[in-house]
Amino acid sequence: MSDKHATLTLNNESIDCPVLDGSLGQSVIDIKPVPKTQHFTFDPGFGATAACESGITFIDGQQGILLHRGYPIDQLAFDTDYMEVCYLLMHGDLPNADQKDQFIHMIKKHSNVHDQINRFFCGFRRDAHPMAIMVGVVGALSAFYHDSLDINNPELRELSAIRLVAKMPVLAAMSYKYSIGEPFMHPKHELSYAENFLNMMFGTPYDDTTKPDPVLSRAMDRIFTLHADHEQNASTSTVRVAGSTGANPFACISAGIGALWGPAHGGANEACLRMLQEIGSEDRISEYIAKAKDKNDPFRLMGFGHRVYKNYDPRAKVMQQTCHEVLDTVGCHDDPIFKLAMKLEKIALEDEYFVEKKLYPNVDFYSGITLNALGIPSNMFTVIFAIARTVGWISQWMEMMSDPNRRLARPRQLYTGPTQRDVSNISDR
Ligand code: CMC
Repeated sequence: MSDKHATLTLNNESIDCPVLDGSLGQSVIDIKPVPKTQHFTFDPGFGATAACESGITFIDGQQGILLHRGYPIDQLAFDTDYMEVCYLLMHGDLPNADQKDQFIHMIKKHSNVHDQINRFFCGFRRDAHPMAIMVGVVGALSAFYHDSLDINNPELRELSAIRLVAKMPVLAAMSYKYSIGEPFMHPKHELSYAENFLNMMFGTPYDDTTKPDPVLSRAMDRIFTLHADHEQNASTSTVRVAGSTGANPFACISAGIGALWGPAHGGANEACLRMLQEIGSEDRISEYIAKAKDKNDPFRLMGFGHRVYKNYDPRAKVMQQTCHEVLDTVGCHDDPIFKLAMKLEKIALEDEYFVEKKLYPNVDFYSGITLNALGIPSNMFTVIFAIARTVGWISQWMEMMSDPNRRLARPRQLYTGPTQRDVSNISDR
């Protein structure tokens, strides 16, 4: 705590609010004394509210900085792999070689899903959106792993975390295989996390000998790293709110998957590719830029803008480079959608409206094109985001569960409904 204080004066009464300093970034005004004045604070969308203390991820949106446990995202993306990032988020520091081996061993050990979960899938329509399947099946894991549901036991919390990180790619690939009518694939111990995911997506039991191309599996791994955590975003806050009630971790992560699905959040990658396909050619860019600027048109440039970044999203820079590498490898560098995206980005970055509102490309602007080039169908894009973000969600959940100051999340409201009135007889209404 700093020795700074903020004073709120209301109807001649003053209350003193302590100012709390973090290790980086903005300080916060502790408004817990405010209800003593018989008022609440009002902050729809939580744009001015820090809901928790956290030591996991730091974002400086003005400078375009993203750090996980202090490490810059570009260094993590280029110099480590996703398993190391998972360990970092869960345990606070990067693993040494032995710790990494042991962690990977645990992930592999827990990657198989219970055989009865296969039957769960049969209950979904063949054309179900894979995110709908994920919301259901991940929540259903709580019915299978009773042995790790004691949320007050830190070792069992960690076991649930490992289970979730290990099983997410398997369940995700199953949701895809189910939709195309191919048999489910099992994870293979000799493959890495990203290789396994690609193999479970594209391999078949009759032909699973080909190891995915190293550039493509590296790109997949990097996509996982870039989406691993992002501070108190909408889905992470959902996980924390659900977790504050004492709900089990599988139910909390399922809630997070639901929140991620929306196009303002994780659904933007799918929506962005759809938008680029709809624009179709460079000569229609100005028409769509005009639509995005028109207050009477609900259209927004997908993959642009961010609640926190008022500068280039540092993940988007890495994503753009990864996109180039993937397109080179699959021989699609002249891909018209990629060219269109680069042109659209250039035009938007020079347009007064986007400059003035500080609307820069976010991670989803290039991730859709990259995933498309990897052969991933667009309805799986947000599922891939969910696989990657699971470690962030569960690390934030574990941090919250070990916080002695944890409280039930229960916001208040500004009531604008009818004042008290009496119920009349139905014949008089
Ligand atoms: N296209 C056109 N105008 C925009 C856009 C956009 N993509 N984003 C924001 N604006 C305008 C908006 O109309 C508003 O204008 P005004 O001040 O005149 O009313 C101003 O910029 C501020 O927008 P806001 O909606 O108040 O800002 P926000 O912080 O609530 O919204 C956002 C952030 C991400 C929801 C928004 O930028 C958006 O809808 N972007 C497109 C969807 C998208 O790409 N989402 C992925 C986010 S990154 C992945 C993740 O981390 O989840």
